[in-house]
Amino acid sequence: MNRQQLRVPGELGDVRPRSTARPSVANTESSRAIGRDPEIRELDEAELIRRIQVLRRERGAVILAHNYQVPVIQDIADFVGDSLQLSQQAAATRAPVIVFCGVHFMAETAAILCPERMVLIPDPEAGCSLAATVTADEVREWRRLNPNGVVVSYVNTSAAVKAESDYCCTSSNALRVIEMVPPDREVLFLPDMFLGLYVERMTGRRLRLWMGTCHVHAAIRMEDIEAAWAGQPGADLLLHPECGCVSNCMAAAAAGELPADRTLVLSTGGMVAHGRTCHAPADLVGTETGLLHRLRLENPGKTFIPVRDDAVCEYMKTITLAKLYRALRDSVYEVTVAPDVAARARRAIDRMLAAV
Ligand code: 13P
Ligand code: SF4
Repeated sequence: MNRQQLRVPGELGDVRPRSTARPSVANTESSRAIGRDPEIRELDEAELIRRIQVLRRERGAVILAHNYQVPVIQDIADFVGDSLQLSQQAAATRAPVIVFCGVHFMAETAAILCPERMVLIPDPEAGCSLAATVTADEVREWRRLNPNGVVVSYVNTSAAVKAESDYCCTSSNALRVIEMVPPDREVLFLPDMFLGLYVERMTGRRLRLWMGTCHVHAAIRMEDIEAAWAGQPGADLLLHPECGCVSNCMAAAAAGELPADRTLVLSTGGMVAHGRTCHAPADLVGTETGLLHRLRLENPGKTFIPVRDDAVCEYMKTITLAKLYRALRDSVYEVTVAPDVAARARRAIDRMLAAV
């Protein structure tokens, strides 16, 4: 493990974030299969929806969708939510088939929680640039060097990384999970450095931070916040903790340069709850733009403005109606996790589900 991947508590030193370019997922195997499929090629959106409705009933399937999915997928899903809510739904469902419209690590988590169900993802190349910044070998190496250390992994990690972790968390319960760890133990928090810095600030706990970032959220900078707020001074600012500007915004709010009571760091599910209960005339939304569909649908009298129009996760958008139909028709692509990996990852995931 090289020194540039980890931040020593209390200093940034010479470490650099692991950055990832915007991914190109336009031409996945699943997309090519749709292009070659003589039946699907002929179907318009209305017919795809009709056939999905028939198949989901025949198969007793439940369709779960993340808040960043394209509108038509959110609209057809049985449940739309954030990472934690989707894990809870997967754990609770009795449906024999789960079609997971989200990214691969989310479907893997569902497969770990529901080994007796068939978990399908319409496009297995729906990855995550943040999850890709850390491997199980790297976590094992840290453990070898720090035998008394505790590893807390954000849910945006592969099953193999979760299997090497003591705890999992999501953006909605990271603070609670850190508070569960005995105070005398050194903690490696991975892989998102901005979430890690936020957790440090809020809990006062010094952490070893993995220097991973999400290409979508890392690009949301202080200049974007200043420009958005200049146009909507009465709005609330909702920031996902993966955003590159979270630490600066927290510092600015503490210094009175941003209104502290209207600068809120929330998971996507937290933003949905805020939209429903809080009556500011407008919310500035600092996360992936897919969430705007749901916010606007549920709160027609309110204005929601993205702090960046180009905050788009290409991985999330690879899931389409045609791929969802094919998933149900052909039982592709099944997501499975080797039983030994699943058993070890499950411990960490169960602790995440307990911290609500
Ligand atoms: P949430 O758990 O807040 O939905 O976040 C998931 C994610 O991938 C953020 O980029
Ligand atoms: Fe991963 Fe970022 Fe996409 Fe979320 S928005 S799934 S962290 S790449």
